[in-house]
Amino acid sequence: MGLLDGKVAIITGAGGGIGRAEALLFAQEGAKVVVNDVGGARDGTGGSDAMARKVVEEITAAGGVAVANFDTVATAAGAAGIVKTALDAFGRIDVLVNNAGILRDKTLLKLDEEQWDSVIAVHLRGTFLVTQAVVKQMIAQGGGGRVVNTTSVSGMVGNFGQSNYAAAKAGIYGFTRTAAIELQKHRITVNALAPVAKTRMTEDLPMFQAGMESLTPEHIAPAALFLGSDLCADRTGHVLAVTGSQVFAYKVVQSAGKFKDEGAAWTAQEIADHWEAITKV
Ligand code: NAI
Repeated sequence: MGLLDGKVAIITGAGGGIGRAEALLFAQEGAKVVVNDVGGARDGTGGSDAMARKVVEEITAAGGVAVANFDTVATAAGAAGIVKTALDAFGRIDVLVNNAGILRDKTLLKLDEEQWDSVIAVHLRGTFLVTQAVVKQMIAQGGGGRVVNTTSVSGMVGNFGQSNYAAAKAGIYGFTRTAAIELQKHRITVNALAPVAKTRMTEDLPMFQAGMESLTPEHIAPAALFLGSDLCADRTGHVLAVTGSQVFAYKVVQSAGKFKDEGAAWTAQEIADHWEAITKV
């Protein structure tokens, strides 16, 4: 008995890294998997069928069921193509993992419009477009489903040189919170995963040079499985983070704050004078 027996799952960007590990685990747990990947370089340039095809071969060799799709998540036509592949092959969609991503790191002062737009297009626009196309299908099927988005520590707390990527990932957080609220009545849960793992995206970061053997995509995949399975049927709008053997949640915290006399506005000087009390959690 697998946690995803009889389910159909789409995983975007599943030709390598974290998405590949998720696809292999989902198939092992009984899902029929759409392995989507444009097969480009880390910065989003280029493309080939080879990456997605190879993961489909791995799944099939292990006795699982999968089909490849090579559409980009960043356009409405691509999102429609991904849904069509799932329906043509398997007739329904139960789980979507929005995992596809690229990097164009630059400090804010050097970042150009192309580097901004391309990163926002794949992560944030792609998450919106594929989610919208998929949840329309889930609702047409009678409702019920799981959406697992992929955010990042960079979007939650910021990271030097990643203002484009952090903005996209923080946008995915806001998207997740709102989609969770809107789709609750259709029994569709929408949660996000914040992974840290050694992949081609991160392998040149100093923290991955110095050992850290536990930071693998295989440590991340079970958390995506949890969010994509019925173990998560009653949980929506959460951000689950996995860093090696540590699992935790990201939450927005509102401080208790401080009231002035009823109806009175705070002056700028008063805010400065009471900063500690106002921001204390
Ligand atoms: P990766 O580069 O191995 O995987 C990303 C995959 O997305 C690639 O196979 C790529 O070809 C595919 N892709 C890129 N643009 C696409 C498009 N337009 N349409 C379809 N597929 C596309 O990197 P990794 O690390 O596995 O990243 C997976 C996700 O996890 C990304 O969303 C990334 O931002 C996120 N993440 C990863 C972290 C890490 O430590 N590796 C940290 C935080 C977030």
